[in-house]
Amino acid sequence: MIPDELEPLWNEGDAAFAGAPALFRGGSFEDIRDAFAAGNVVVHQEDGRPVGFATIVFTIGDHVGIGNLVVLKEFRGRGIASKLMEEAHELAREKGAKHSLMCIWDGGTLPDFYQKAGYQPIGVVMSREL
Ligand SMILES: CC(C)(COP(=O)(O)OP(=O)(O)OC[C@H]1O[C@@H](n2cnc3c(N)ncnc32)[C@H](O)[C@@H]1OP(=O)(O)O)[C@@H](O)C(=O)NCCC(=O)NCCS
Repeated sequence: MIPDELEPLWNEGDAAFAGAPALFRGGSFEDIRDAFAAGNVVVHQEDGRPVGFATIVFTIGDHVGIGNLVVLKEFRGRGIASKLMEEAHELAREKGAKHSLMCIWDGGTLPDFYQKAGYQPIGVVMSREL
């Protein structure tokens, strides 16, 4: 698999976050290429086609941040994102991480998804203009 194959997925995830601050939205597809080169990407394929992926976005001490999680619309609701999160956690453990941080911008239903994936709130993210 080559990272270019992930671009349609990244575009779908990016569209879902139109308007979100950069912290939650990430950078550009170049960051995905870099993550791929660093072995920081987990991919779910169906019949050889990538339909979902997630990346380790940052590492600070023994914490990682997992992000860019997206599953193509027609493949949602089948447990693919949950499997990707488990694989991302395993990858992070292999790289020596002990904790995973999750920054969620969507104040709607997404926290429920991440709580099912084992995350609990530990603080509050605040922001101000500069
Ligand atoms: C969020 C997303 C990755 C979920 O993908 P998915 O493969 O459909 O998720 P799963 O099938 O693994 O769902 C696992 C569980 O979470 C629940 N869930 C899935 N998406 C949810 C959502 N947006 N809000 C609340 N619960 C959700 C499912 O109902 C399921 O619950 P169950 O185990 O009780 O049946 C997908 O909707 C997506 O790509 N969205 C656009 C990009 C995005 O928002 N990414 C997250 C960035 S923080």
